[in-house]
Amino acid sequence: MDKPESEREQGGAFEQAAQRQSAALWRERQARLLELSAQDTLALVSAAPVQRRSADTHFPYRQDSAFFYLSGLREPECILALRRTGSGTESVLFVPPKDAFKERWEGPMLGVEGALETARFDAVLPTEKLNPFLANWLLKAPEVFLDLGRRDSANDNLWQLALHGSTGRGGGGLRRISSLGYHLGVARRVKSASEIEALSRSADIAASAQSAAMRLGRPGIWENELEASLLATYRTRGAEGPAYEPIVGGGVRATFLHYRANNQRIEAGELVLIDAGCELDGYASDITRTFPVSGRFTQPQRDLYTCVLQSQRAAFAACKPGATLEVVHQAAVKVLAQGLIDLGVVKGSLGEVIESGLYRPYYMHQTSHWIGLDVHDPCPYRDEAGEAVKLEPGMVLTIEPGLYFGVDATSPPAFSGIGIRIEDDVLVTAQGCYNLTSAVPSEINAIEAVCSES
Ligand code: GLY
Ligand code: MN
Ligand code: MN
Repeated sequence: MDKPESEREQGGAFEQAAQRQSAALWRERQARLLELSAQDTLALVSAAPVQRRSADTHFPYRQDSAFFYLSGLREPECILALRRTGSGTESVLFVPPKDAFKERWEGPMLGVEGALETARFDAVLPTEKLNPFLANWLLKAPEVFLDLGRRDSANDNLWQLALHGSTGRGGGGLRRISSLGYHLGVARRVKSASEIEALSRSADIAASAQSAAMRLGRPGIWENELEASLLATYRTRGAEGPAYEPIVGGGVRATFLHYRANNQRIEAGELVLIDAGCELDGYASDITRTFPVSGRFTQPQRDLYTCVLQSQRAAFAACKPGATLEVVHQAAVKVLAQGLIDLGVVKGSLGEVIESGLYRPYYMHQTSHWIGLDVHDPCPYRDEAGEAVKLEPGMVLTIEPGLYFGVDATSPPAFSGIGIRIEDDVLVTAQGCYNLTSAVPSEINAIEAVCSES
């Protein structure tokens, strides 16, 4: 049945209000990037290029995070130019004009009109106007913010434009090319309410995918079956897809930190480590759980698992405003090191084991990283003076201690080939931190209960 006329109008009004609100959000982000820069400073950001996979097929398109953060658009081949002026920020989006032939094959394009309707930019022009337009802006620009880390044709083109545009035709104003990533990373470090909501929904989907995989566990299951289950949950629940290639490692493969082959059978009595997360509305989740495919932890697995879980709890307790990621890491290390001493793996006092790094053969990575649009969100960990960044409410990070015993001489026989990591995504709050991914169990009893639901 059709909605009554009045409701339809109301719906339209709500949509327009939502559009206005969202337009303000993007404009605020654009302004914030240039806030501390000089007048006439430019920022140039291009959409991610479409990547060929083989012959005439392509990788799934994923928008560049910086471009998405500043525009909210997923359209390829666009360029955003921002300029700090005396009265604020001026934004111009360059977008490929609509092309009926292309639309027949690939579906609707945004086009100039569509981009204008978003109200996120002061002007929208077809991409062919980019060079003449920028030549003008570049003549006066003292500084240009560019992505210094991207090596692709779209970004290289912006470099060429910035360098040549500023030296040609009586220019020469450009004194500096600065890292867009650094400035934007600072802005992206504290998440807004809408970003926290997206991160929470991403976390919910990733948590349910982990629980579903845990229920599937049984001796003889293949790593690829578990991976397929994760991917099915992501897509069924509306996520864009995985935030990174899932790690599904059974047995000794759980000790390979970035194992991705995911193609082996998992035998009775083995643990499986699943490190996986999805991307929802652009925002990532990143969860690791380690569980026994036979449904019960053996005693050595239980001993190590308990140590990692306690280490994670200590790190949670240390995660609060004013602390640094190093403080969180040290809280985790302290418990892991004590556990290794208690289990007879290393010898010495706690201070000696930490000081001399005797724990490092078994715990060789950091405990946390920022998470946001990117799973390893590229926000600086130190300020411009080199001081470690202090946690503030609204920052989101992972807490992921682990212990890894390779099949080699450094591992006591009982622990040989065991890898354990427990990873959650947490939001820093005024009081401490809130675990966004607690819906998937991490306690031994709760894990064994879920495993027995298979
Ligand atoms: N999934 C990669 C990481 O945990 O950092
Ligand atoms: Mn992580
Ligand atoms: Mn992870």
